[in-house]
Amino acid sequence: MEQAMRNFFLFLSKNKPMTKLAKKYGLRFGAGRFVAGSSILQAVEVIRELNSQNLVVTIDYLGEFVDNEREANEMALECVEAIRAIGREKLDSQLSLKMTSMGLDISEEVVMKNMRMILEEATKQNVFVTIDMEDYSRCGKTIDIFTRLKSEYDNIGTVIQAYLYRTEKDIDDLNAYSPNLRLVKGAYKESPEVAFPEKKDVDENFKKIIKTHLLNGNYTAIATHDDEMIEYTKRLVEEYKIPRDQFEFQMLFGIRVERQHELVKEGYKMRVYVPYGTDWYGYFMRRLAERPANVAFVLKGVMKK
Ligand code: FDA
Repeated sequence: MEQAMRNFFLFLSKNKPMTKLAKKYGLRFGAGRFVAGSSILQAVEVIRELNSQNLVVTIDYLGEFVDNEREANEMALECVEAIRAIGREKLDSQLSLKMTSMGLDISEEVVMKNMRMILEEATKQNVFVTIDMEDYSRCGKTIDIFTRLKSEYDNIGTVIQAYLYRTEKDIDDLNAYSPNLRLVKGAYKESPEVAFPEKKDVDENFKKIIKTHLLNGNYTAIATHDDEMIEYTKRLVEEYKIPRDQFEFQMLFGIRVERQHELVKEGYKMRVYVPYGTDWYGYFMRRLAERPANVAFVLKGVMKK
C-alpha cells in the first residue's frame, strides 16, 4: 500500500498542468511546511532565523523541467539574485539548483551559459553552488556538466544518489576531481533496470558510498533524515578519525527539525535545504512520496479551505 502511494505521488510530481495551476494559486495544502515562501525576501527571513540557531543553509529557487530558453534565463537570473541576497545579508548559505531549470532539456549551450553566469557571481560572493541530481535520464549529462564546470570553478559540487547501480563507479570516477559531494538515497521513480528496488539495498549502497567518499579524503555531505545512516556516519568518522570539517549532515527544511538541533548540539555541522519560489508542486509531491504519513497534513490543509 505504501509503495502504491509512493508511486502515485511520484507520478503526480511530473504532472505539468498541476504544476502550472500550483504556480498560479500559490502555496497550498500544507506545502508551506516544506517551502520557505514564494519570494527571496521571505526566504531570507527564514535563513536568518535558521542561522541564528546555528544551522547553516543551502537555498534553492524552486523550478524544474523548464522547456524554453526565456524561462531558463529567468531562473538563472533569480539564482544570481539569491546569491546577491546571501552576500548582502551576510547569510551563512550556499545555493542549490537543478540542471533542467537552467535549460538542460533545451541545449547544453544554454545550461553552460547560465551556469557560468551564476558561478561568476557565486565566486564574487564566496557562495558554494551544488547541482542537485534529477532523474536517471539526466544523470550522465549532469555529471558531465559538473566535471566541465569543476575544472573552471572551485565552488561547485553535485549530488550522487545511492539507489542507482551506476553510483559506485561514479564515486570512483569523480574521485579524480576531489569533489565536494552531497550523498542521498534518491527521490525519483526509477526502473529496476537502473536502480535498486529494495530499500535495504539502497541503504547498503548508501553506507558504502559514504565510506568510500570519506576515506578518499573528500568533503562529504550526508543528506538524510534516516537515523541509521546518521549513526553509521558517526561511528565511521570516529573509527577513522575523520575531522569534523570534512563532512556535514544535511536535511530538508521542515523535516525532523528536532533532530537537526540535536546534531548541532552534538557539535556536528548541520545544513538545511531551504526551497522557495512559486514552482513548489513537484518538490512537494516528492516529499509526500517519501512519507505518505505527511498526507495527513495535506488533508488538514484541504479541510481548512
Ligand atoms: P528515508 O526515506 O528512508 O527516511 C528515513 C526516515 O526519515 C523516515 O522513517 C522518517 O522518519 C524520516 N523522513 C524521511 N522523509 C521524510 C519526510 N518527507 N517527511 C517527514 N519525515 C521524513 N534526492 C535526489 O534525488 N536528488 C537531490 O539532489 C536531492 N537533494 C537532497 C538534499 C537534501 C539536503 C536532502 C536531505 C535530501 C535530498 N534528496 C535528493 C532526497 C533524498 O534522495 C531522499 O529522497 C530523502 O532524503 C528521503 O530519504 P532519507 O535518506 O531521508 O531516508
